[in-house]
Amino acid sequence: MTHLRTRAVHAGQHPDAASGAIATPITQTTAFGYGTLERGAAIFAGEAPGYRYSRFGNPTVAALESKMANLEGAQAAVAFASGTAATSSVLLGLLSPGDEIVFLGPLYGGTEGLFRQMGERFGIRVVDATQLGLATCLTPATRMVWVETLTNPSLRVHDLTEVAALAKAHGVLTVADNTFCTPWLVRPLEHGIDLVMHSMTKYLGGHGDATGGIVAGSAALIAPVRKTGLGHVGGNLSPQEAFLFLRGIKTLPLRMAAHCEGAAAVAHFLAQHPAVQVVHYPGLASHPQHALAQRLLQGGFGGMVAFELVRNERAAAAAVLNRLQLFTQAVSLGDVDSLACHPASTTHSVVSAAVRAYNGITEGLIRLSVGIEHPDDLIADLGQALTQVV
Ligand SMILES: Cc1ncc(COP(=O)(O)O)c(C=O)c1O
Repeated sequence: MTHLRTRAVHAGQHPDAASGAIATPITQTTAFGYGTLERGAAIFAGEAPGYRYSRFGNPTVAALESKMANLEGAQAAVAFASGTAATSSVLLGLLSPGDEIVFLGPLYGGTEGLFRQMGERFGIRVVDATQLGLATCLTPATRMVWVETLTNPSLRVHDLTEVAALAKAHGVLTVADNTFCTPWLVRPLEHGIDLVMHSMTKYLGGHGDATGGIVAGSAALIAPVRKTGLGHVGGNLSPQEAFLFLRGIKTLPLRMAAHCEGAAAVAHFLAQHPAVQVVHYPGLASHPQHALAQRLLQGGFGGMVAFELVRNERAAAAAVLNRLQLFTQAVSLGDVDSLACHPASTTHSVVSAAVRAYNGITEGLIRLSVGIEHPDDLIADLGQALTQVV
């Protein structure tokens, strides 16, 4: 199974030994009978394989973890009830008071909010290296560097190889949030990044009907994240949701191809529209990191597009958004349905105005999650909405 498209279908999954069922059964149980006291003791001591309690592990969830470890080229993975549970479990599992976490932004607003609030309460210094650069911001106390493979919502690209090499030279762990790209476009561990995390809620699930997160990396790094995140926080993914992710990932490559095709068409349309000041899409030659994106991303430039109106104000954004018919106004992304949102008043309302300003999150910025509908229909919808502000 060398091709990712084949692995997306088969990795981690086998016909059920008891029934022959091809779809991995939903093992809906809290506890697992272990038969004898001796076997129970051995499982609890980690000396024998076997499940004991679904908070610590469950066969449906394990199939998903195994599939995602395979797709990201990792030794191990651990699934959580949301991307945010995955992020907080990485922080709680691997950082201690006095440590520093450095990030290259802009980050998803919820992630930055989590860093800052958790940092303040638990004595972890949070450093935003977006403006100063990573090299300037690493100190002897830096323990972790956090990046998003494509940033939200301005679709900036980070040179993962450079980030990983610099951090490694300082003995610092790196984590990449690969939610926007998925392993179909980039596999951060291949670039030297230590841990990759996802909000599976987005492209991996793909249908807007399940919330989940996952972290993948070496067995040595996943072990403390699993212990803290499942054992202590109890952020485990339910087997029902795991089933939906297993099903969704089977079509990830096909969906990503359609998302990328649609987003490229939409970006080109917006780039020539008189009501649009600037389009953020790494597939456009005008994107400041187009060359890096071409090197880093394989098979397309993702399904997210952001654009700023010439009339750079909230009222203009509202006029466009409120007229859209095919794009639903909502904050999630990666669904088969197209979605649109106003980051300044939604996803990034929790970060400070100064952070919004230097990350280009203006009042006239609109973010699109381009679904798998026909691009011509999406372009027609945007065209009629933009007539409001020409
Ligand atoms: C890039 C990114 N990371 C993490 C998250 C958090 O994921 P979840 O909503 O599954 O907790 C989001 C949510 O929008 C996101 O966009």
